[in-house]
Amino acid sequence: MACPLSDGISDDQESDQMTDSPGMLYGEYLRLDKILTAQRLLSAEYNTEVHDEHLFIITHQAYELWFKQIIYELDSVRLLFNSDHSGYDSLNGTSKNHSGVQKNGVSQILNESRTLEILKRLNRIVLILKLLVDQVSILETMTPLDFMAFRDYLCPASGFQSLQFRLLENKLGVKQEHRVKYNQSYHRVFGRDPKAIEAIKRSEDEPSLSCLVQKWLARTPGLEAHDFDFWGKYKRSVEKLLVEQEQLAWKHAKEQLRNYHLANARSRKAVFETIFNESLHNALVSRGERKFAYGALQGAVMITLYRDEPRFSQPHQILTALMDIDSLITKWRYNHVLMVQRMIGSQQLGTGGSSGYQYLKSTLSDRYKVFLDLFNLSTFLIPRHLIPPLTKQMKTRLSVAWNGWNPDDNQNNSECTLDDT
Ligand code: HEM
Repeated sequence: MACPLSDGISDDQESDQMTDSPGMLYGEYLRLDKILTAQRLLSAEYNTEVHDEHLFIITHQAYELWFKQIIYELDSVRLLFNSDHSGYDSLNGTSKNHSGVQKNGVSQILNESRTLEILKRLNRIVLILKLLVDQVSILETMTPLDFMAFRDYLCPASGFQSLQFRLLENKLGVKQEHRVKYNQSYHRVFGRDPKAIEAIKRSEDEPSLSCLVQKWLARTPGLEAHDFDFWGKYKRSVEKLLVEQEQLAWKHAKEQLRNYHLANARSRKAVFETIFNESLHNALVSRGERKFAYGALQGAVMITLYRDEPRFSQPHQILTALMDIDSLITKWRYNHVLMVQRMIGSQQLGTGGSSGYQYLKSTLSDRYKVFLDLFNLSTFLIPRHLIPPLTKQMKTRLSVAWNGWNPDDNQNNSECTLDDT
């Protein structure tokens, strides 16, 4: 097959014919004139060239390019979840409007045939993130002394000003109120750049991936109270489990052991109460300890318990990929913070003016995990023998290989309030 850049010129033609031809050449296509001349060593400009500054710049640029690709994939996945009425032709990867995501809300229908594409692109993001986590170690080959030799020239530039990193966080669903406060607001650093402010605002206003996933989860077939009523059945199974646990606890002859098991059974009961009582759940959401809307959580529990049914197999893989994304970003934060401590210690301010290591350490908490509730689903698992058996009708419904939910499956799609739309 002819190389797409060669404009039909075959291998056996003279090479100078290629350079003379009007077709596009490799360097031109990739705009290498721009990319490969974009490494400006400040240390060299001050006539004290530091060898490792080259690596420092290349590493950051490589990160930014990968951030760009992740955002590209993320936007397309959001469109696929949001699909149909946005004028988006997902298979050709083109959209009529640039952002593609409808401005004032989420279309109700997920075009069901596109879910494999969602999975493929989420998995691609996962692989890129794995690379980004590992890439930190290359920069760690620079010694703190070498970094010190050019660090002052950078000031006040800082990764904190990475617009793409913020867009990525917002598009995933990190909310302003969950961020660690730094100079009041992360908007501040874009103060003099109207385009950046506009992009940030758009990323905050559009439905995030988390929001779209929640809408989709709330439509999980089987949640309908008037039909299979998964939640009602699951609740009865949990009650049975808790009674069994308490009875077992009472059977322990040794008082210490008995008390331990009784306390354990009571604390599990209290935890389960928080998912059966919607107001308790919402209170946890308002404290940031849970992120998902009530219906979305129910869908996620159902998919997790019945993941062996053909129709839930892909949704379960999607949930796993979403958790992987959250995990890997947390791992990146962790690797980055360790590198920062190694380079500047834990008492120096960052070039962006934060407390440096201390600030970054505080971003490692659950507040930045967008799919936190998926991690915590394990708390609500029940033993296989207590999983409510599927009715014949439900078994049939879930037996077909998943092509997505049918919008008629479940009309319970108003759970995610989309307060960020
Ligand atoms: C020698 C290597 C590095 C050092 C010492 C360093 C240091 C820091 C410090 C101290 C901060 C806190 C903000 C501030 O006050 O400046 C920060 C934030 C940040 N850095 Fe780095 N950094 C390094 C490499 C990188 C690389 C390779 C990237 C890749 C893009 C990066 C991306 C970021 C991002 C996105 C933030 C904002 C994190 C947040 O607010 O959650 N940094 N960095």
